[in-house]
Amino acid sequence: MNWRLGSLYNERVLPRMVDAMCANAEMLPWREKAISGLEGVIVEIGFGSGANASVYPAEVTRVFAVEPSQQALRLAEPKLAAERTARSAAGVEYPMIEQVGLTGESLPLGTNSCDGALSTFTLCTIPDVVAALHELRRVIKPGGRFHFLEHGLSPDAPIAKWQRRLDPLQGALAGGCHLTREMPELLEAAGFQIESLTSRYARGPKPWTWFSIGKAINPS
Ligand SMILES: C[S@@+](CC[C@H](N)C(=O)[O-])C[C@H]1O[C@@H](n2cnc3c(N)ncnc32)[C@H](O)[C@@H]1O
Repeated sequence: MNWRLGSLYNERVLPRMVDAMCANAEMLPWREKAISGLEGVIVEIGFGSGANASVYPAEVTRVFAVEPSQQALRLAEPKLAAERTARSAAGVEYPMIEQVGLTGESLPLGTNSCDGALSTFTLCTIPDVVAALHELRRVIKPGGRFHFLEHGLSPDAPIAKWQRRLDPLQGALAGGCHLTREMPELLEAAGFQIESLTSRYARGPKPWTWFSIGKAINPS
């Protein structure tokens, strides 16, 4: 792919593909489970096309959205507007949502400024995931929680072998997404304490569907 085609693909085509694949009804129960329990002010890294718009708990008051793709943010607008209208009709508050930055590696937020954080299918894509996790620890208050729903490296050797083989192609076609990241290990290495974790295959081809869903505490 030449440079212009590559950037057209990443800016125009990829956000629509991600929206179609990730923001579907089948993923909603996973998303609901991942987000449940968050409250107050949260930062969501890789906000994307607003796939979590319909599942923010009523206790979440404000969402700092971090997302580099303007196309994805445009796709989010009608979903957020529809959900805001529906909740308002039901007399339920909807969080204030504002874009605050482009990348998880550099959050324009103060230290200890968030009650919690959220990432759904984003840690796989962030180029410097270690830096992003350290940024999350900086902005989450001590005792606050990072909720995550991610795909990653399977514990089954034959599947993991395929994931390693497919990783370069996945990266090229899916905006830098990796199939081989070990999410719980990355979180612990960054100093988070895993409070709850469920890992299992979702429906679909196994190299893409080893999902980890959980909550990790920022101890300090
Ligand atoms: C697979 S999509 C997931 C989107 C959304 N969170 C969801 O659950 O559907 C990965 C997202 O991460 C975003 N992204 C890429 N690089 C990033 C970075 N350095 N920091 C934060 N987000 C990033 C992409 O633009 C994309 O929206």
